[in-house]
Amino acid sequence: MISESNKALVNKELNKEESKKKLEEMKGNKSVEVNSWIVSDLELIGIGGFSPLEGFMGQDDYERVVDDMRLQDGTIWSIPITLPVREEIATTLDIGEEVALIGEDGVIYGTIEVKEKFTYDKEKEARLVYGTTDTNHPGVQKVYDKGNVYLGGPVTLLNRPDHGEFKEYYLDPSETRQMFADLGWKTVVGFQTRNPVHRAHEYIQKSALEVVDGLLLNPLVGETKSGDIPADVRMESYQTILQNYYPTNRTRLVIYPAAMRYAGPREAILHAIVRRNYGCTHFIVGRDHAGVGDYYGTYDAQELITQYEEELGIKIFTFEHAFYCSTCENMATAKTCPHDSSHHVHLSGTKVRELIRNGDRPPKEFSRPEVADVLIKGMKQV
Ligand code: ADX
Repeated sequence: MISESNKALVNKELNKEESKKKLEEMKGNKSVEVNSWIVSDLELIGIGGFSPLEGFMGQDDYERVVDDMRLQDGTIWSIPITLPVREEIATTLDIGEEVALIGEDGVIYGTIEVKEKFTYDKEKEARLVYGTTDTNHPGVQKVYDKGNVYLGGPVTLLNRPDHGEFKEYYLDPSETRQMFADLGWKTVVGFQTRNPVHRAHEYIQKSALEVVDGLLLNPLVGETKSGDIPADVRMESYQTILQNYYPTNRTRLVIYPAAMRYAGPREAILHAIVRRNYGCTHFIVGRDHAGVGDYYGTYDAQELITQYEEELGIKIFTFEHAFYCSTCENMATAKTCPHDSSHHVHLSGTKVRELIRNGDRPPKEFSRPEVADVLIKGMKQV
């Protein structure tokens, strides 16, 4: 059962009128420029996706999250949500000041009431959160690139980033909860992805859908590393696969606007917390969830997250590595297929990207042809 504290949603967004007034008031205030990663974190705090967070973390929360995956009050939380600035900027800001947060596009997205300024140990953050200090890891590289001082304090969200042509797939946690209630879904499985949906994804989603009422396909569309398929191309591919291969009354597509950290096991926990906030009762963690390169073991994320299932307030569906077996003529895992890997269709991400860039469809055992066509078309335009 989900506890009352796990159910509560933070709302730090001002309504239109209040926002207008606030923007007027903020005219004489200082401002800090923030990148799209910070804007997406601000947005997620504002709309309640990161509940119970009400702002960027202060030092006590930050240190406890890094050291033992908990906020200061003991609530489970796995990834620091912080606002880094360069030292020369930090010294111009006073404690207690309300500072405007301006995107690289000049839009004021929100404010932070600066309660704390603190320095932090980058090497420690990389080692404990990402499990490595290797700067080839895209998440670790970000840690080393960012400013040396964190600003902590509560935020307000004044403007949302423009979600362009995919606006209709953009719902707040309060809205998805309402949507599930309206649909009569008592159990909902959330699926995180930063990739187009391939046959293994489809297999594990549908295996879950056999036992719950609905599926929330919840792709991450914030910043990803270069090499990943861009979000707008993916969004078109999700629409296509849902139209062609999923029951309309049991599936919904909603955007998860966060940036990808590639923090493997710890990010799986963040992903689950957010999906709980969106109203999911179940969450899928397959092989190498939120992983990159060889930094994490295939099932490390599953091993970590299942230890915290109870307090996370969301049930975890774990799935083994899934593949197409040409002898079974079916999707399967080692749990359901007796044949060795020579019978299995295996394609690396690099190989798939190469095929798509060359205008070739990956085999239909790997990717639905309709999806492959959308990706081929989309990648030509990139
Ligand atoms: S992730 O970084 O968003 O986790 P990806 O989009 O590849 O990457 O994965 C989405 C989800 O599907 C994750 O839970 C991942 O563990 C799972 N997954 C991806 N491929 C497979 C597979 N072949 N077998 C089992 N689970 C998989």
